Amino acid sequence: MTKTNKPRLRFFEESPGQRHVEAHDRYLYSRPAAQHKVNVIGTGTIGMEHMRVAALLGRVGINGIYDPQPASVATALDEYAKLSEETPTVYSSVEEACNASEADALMICTPNYTHIDVFEVASQSGKPIFLEKPMATTLDDAKRIVEISKNYPGFIQVGLQYRYKAPYVEARYEALDRGTLGNIHMLNMSEYRPPFLDKVGQWNKFNDESGGTLVEKCCHYFDLLASFAGGRPRRVYASCGRAVNFTDFAREGVASDIDDHAFVIIDFDNNVRANFTLNMFAPTFHEELIISGDRGRLIANERFDFQNEDVARSEVVVELGEEGASRRTDIGYARPIEHSGHHGSTYMEHIAFADQLEGKTVDAATPAQGLWSIVIAVAAQESARSGQPIDVQSLIDTHGLETVIQA
Ligand SMILES: NC(=O)c1ccc[n+]([C@@H]2O[C@H](COP(=O)([O-])OP(=O)(O)OC[C@H]3O[C@@H](n4cnc5c(N)ncnc54)[C@H](O)[C@@H]3O)[C@@H](O)[C@H]2O)c1
Repeated sequence: MTKTNKPRLRFFEESPGQRHVEAHDRYLYSRPAAQHKVNVIGTGTIGMEHMRVAALLGRVGINGIYDPQPASVATALDEYAKLSEETPTVYSSVEEACNASEADALMICTPNYTHIDVFEVASQSGKPIFLEKPMATTLDDAKRIVEISKNYPGFIQVGLQYRYKAPYVEARYEALDRGTLGNIHMLNMSEYRPPFLDKVGQWNKFNDESGGTLVEKCCHYFDLLASFAGGRPRRVYASCGRAVNFTDFAREGVASDIDDHAFVIIDFDNNVRANFTLNMFAPTFHEELIISGDRGRLIANERFDFQNEDVARSEVVVELGEEGASRRTDIGYARPIEHSGHHGSTYMEHIAFADQLEGKTVDAATPAQGLWSIVIAVAAQESARSGQPIDVQSLIDTHGLETVIQA
């Protein structure tokens, strides 16, 4: 008995009352063999999330892994063994993992400052590449990645998966596809969250290894704001600081220098104005996007009180005043998907990755879009440093980005 499509009905599949159903009787719960094989390079927090999500989705199998830290390899194999009967090959170098003929595609999940070097090796393989966000820590490295991607035989997908969070998918449908709000004029986005988590080597505590807080974390939000604004960012103003987090943290005598709060304003060339607020010393997670148009307003938010709840609560509110019907909608993915990582957005990102492997067109982030998210972040960090607004075109000209940014 084989089944190639939905529904999976995982709730029943995993319930004690269904465990007696043997393999030959499994139809709804049968797992089709993965059609594609990927090698994961870097098996820390997000590398393991990709392995977990790949196992859950079942379309892309994990052929092999490479990570220089033995604890990362051991933990990843351990976790994956709970989800799959296949044991990934452990490679001994980036080169070996990238060029292994058994893998159809590569996932780069290493620290930000290593992306450029790993990508240079990976791109010699000609295989489709998934590259975690931020695609690089500097504009020059990001430019190089876009340049390579232009004539690359495979696709390159950047891990800006917040675009797949359920409230933003719905917001996009209402505001952009249906045009419910009329012409969009203002965007407000905020993220309140606890500090950056511990990492291997603590690379996220240092600006030169992470690219800075606004590059490392907030590229997700700049990607979202750019997609809702629909124009090109023209001017960026920002104020950032470090108030609470890691003020006493040092690695081998070098003090952490990352920001933990920020205000950013972005003027787009189509007169859309956006702002972004970051606070990284909040007790729980809360992010919100407010889109204001000339017909109404949309509020999309996601709250995750991990102290008390095990699933995020998200809603989308559409307010049209006297212009039309207003509503408030709870929104979210099915529980196993919500639980698999980043509230289901990584799972949706994997669907896009598998679809691209099958030649389908998807709305996943391209290298050029990944570059735009870094342009805004770098402009904001420069504005905060200098106390001056940053003219985005000057930044583009200084770094010679014009030819690559239009892709
Ligand atoms: N899309 C998202 O929402 C999201 C979430 C978390 C992290 N990330 C990104 O994923 C990347 C990894 O972050 P993380 O949280 O997993 O960090 P981590 O420190 O938990 O894991 C990184 C792993 O990469 C390994 N590594 C270091 N150099 C390597 C190399 N040259 N080759 C192979 N492996 C190497 C480390 O040993 C470690 O195991 C970063 O770019 C980060 O910004 C994205």
